[in-house]
Amino acid sequence: MKKIIFSLAIAAVLASCGGKSNSGGGDNPAPATPTAPATTDVSENPDYQKGLALVAKNDCLTCHKVDEKLIGPEYVLVANKYAGSSDTMVTHLAHKIIDGGKGNWGEVPMTPHPTVSLEDAEAMVKYVLLLKK
Ligand code: HEC
Repeated sequence: MKKIIFSLAIAAVLASCGGKSNSGGGDNPAPATPTAPATTDVSENPDYQKGLALVAKNDCLTCHKVDEKLIGPEYVLVANKYAGSSDTMVTHLAHKIIDGGKGNWGEVPMTPHPTVSLEDAEAMVKYVLLLKK
């Protein structure tokens, strides 16, 4: 008799464990969450928010618009050209923001931004590249 109760108890424990791991699987759509913002709404991407704030704080928008050419190329075109490039390209573009430069989009140069840190410049590049259409 004791044996039966004992094995019932074990069965109960096993069942509750099984239940737990099931419910764990239930609230485990976690892998789906990171992909959702990337595909649906880039504005929820932290890189986007950080870069946008920096772009707004600096003088970028005097020469660049998101989807219209001003003095510099529109960011959507820049994104279409470089999005998906390596981190090396992000760093290269960041240096171009800091040092200024011309030749990729025409003869009009981009002014240097010597007070912008490499980290901030890279954050702005990441934002720009997220605007790919
Ligand atoms: C004085 C106007 C001006 C300002 C201010 C400016 N840009 Fe530019 N930007 C340009 C021009 C012109 C080009 C095209 C340069 C070329 O032909 O290589 C350019 C190119 C770029 C590119 C593409 C570079 C490449 O090699 O293809 C990025 C990215 C960029 N700008 C980001 C920024 C960011 C971020 C800021 C703010 C910190 C900024 N720009 C401020 C005029 C400007």
